[in-house]
Amino acid sequence: MLVKLDVTKINKFECPMPIEIFRKLYRQRALQYEDAQLLCTIIKKLRPLDILELGTFIGLSAKVMNMALRENGYGNIISVDLWSQGEMFAGPGSPKMGQVFTPEDLKNISLVTSDEIEYLESLPAQCFDMIFEDTNHAARMLMKAVPLIERALRPGGIALFHNSDWESVRMGMDLADVSDRIIDLSKYSNAKILMLRKE
Ligand SMILES: C[S@@+](CC[C@H](N)C(=O)[O-])C[C@H]1O[C@@H](n2cnc3c(N)ncnc32)[C@H](O)[C@@H]1O
Repeated sequence: MLVKLDVTKINKFECPMPIEIFRKLYRQRALQYEDAQLLCTIIKKLRPLDILELGTFIGLSAKVMNMALRENGYGNIISVDLWSQGEMFAGPGSPKMGQVFTPEDLKNISLVTSDEIEYLESLPAQCFDMIFEDTNHAARMLMKAVPLIERALRPGGIALFHNSDWESVRMGMDLADVSDRIIDLSKYSNAKILMLRKE
């Protein structure tokens, strides 16, 4: 049973991963600490069972969400990305798909190689409690993704869209005709995340 989220009370952050790790990984364009804090706070309040992440990259967001799920005592993550592991960049020291995952993380995180839209189209209705969207932020892709994401959410579930500061993300919400239902969580926290709730 999902707990209804009071967005005015999400400024009390709880993130189990030390800020130093984010500082080290920030240059690799992974999740920022403030966003991780918010994701963890939301997971600890909402108490989701099934989370879908769209956009794995090095795995930082999936890893911190998994840490919050473990503190809840239950929950799983499916994380989808276009690239297969290890193929992203060439050269020594380059970021690698899922590089931050330990074998322990992968007990709760399933990795899927797929295009976001193709994966969402393959899903039955109402199968996730929370969906974190963090792929290429293209407005036209979000226009297609948002209705599919809403369809995949259970009642009371939430979709979170990363990088609310990107013009194309806001444009995607307009094109998907959900701007009037979007809650900008940067008003209540330091995170750049938009939220859409499924009633
Ligand atoms: C910003 S990164 C994700 C960062 C990750 N969530 C984190 O915080 O560590 C974006 C990822 O989306 C993936 N991506 C881009 N377009 C995609 C698509 N159409 N379908 C699936 N994944 C896509 C890229 O391969 C890239 O790894």
